[in-house]
Amino acid sequence: MNQTWQTDLYQDNHSFVWQLGQGVVDLLNPQPGERVLDLGCGTGQLSQIIADRGATVIGLDADSAMIAEAQKNFPALTFVVADAREFSLAEPVDAIFSNAAFHWIDDPAAVATCMWAALKPTGRLAVEFGGKGNMATVLAAIASARAAHGYGAIPASPWYFPSVGEYTSLLEQQGFEVQFASLRDRPTPLEGDSGLVNWLHMFAGQFWADFPSEQQPQLLKTIAANVQPELYRQGQWWADYRRIRVLARKPS
Ligand code: BEZ
Repeated sequence: MNQTWQTDLYQDNHSFVWQLGQGVVDLLNPQPGERVLDLGCGTGQLSQIIADRGATVIGLDADSAMIAEAQKNFPALTFVVADAREFSLAEPVDAIFSNAAFHWIDDPAAVATCMWAALKPTGRLAVEFGGKGNMATVLAAIASARAAHGYGAIPASPWYFPSVGEYTSLLEQQGFEVQFASLRDRPTPLEGDSGLVNWLHMFAGQFWADFPSEQQPQLLKTIAANVQPELYRQGQWWADYRRIRVLARKPS
């Protein structure tokens, strides 16, 4: 999907994206001397953490502003602008890593085909992204707030939140051997009293693009009021994230 990123907002208010992604780095277990592709690298923080373990990292992202920021943040690493559905590498890599990116990409089979081509035989991939049920409380609240303001059904979700069965089958169809897969709740703290509204502004504007702009602040207030009983706890907003995590291997 087309998402315009504000790299400053992303880095300041969404640092949890890479802070919580470090468990996926552990699952990948990068080794000194390996070549690793970070697919959907954003502003590059996890690429650098993988590089700190001794691997040579290529960070790839479709968003040129993100890649410009990544290159500024970590000038010693290699970053490229490319679409995960149609990229190719000059040399295959030992491993592919991806955190919090695949839910944005609407053709997961095309991504799997590109990953297959980019990996050496015996190469592995460790990925995590939004899984089935991700943000369900917020999506339901958006639907009911739209209805309360006299608007129709929520526009189709732009996100891909698969179940374990759905995603691992897709990888197996491509030829990968799946070694580990899980789906778990991962409530995620959102910074500050405006944490939920900031999240909605940053990520969910497509759900009220048909509202006149003067009505949008009221709609956001209604959404926040709807989810508050579930998502505001101990003085803190939480996103109801669910994460699918997969480790898979390209056979020899
Ligand atoms: C997520 O990380 O789960 C996510 C982020 C933005 C929009 C949708 C999902």
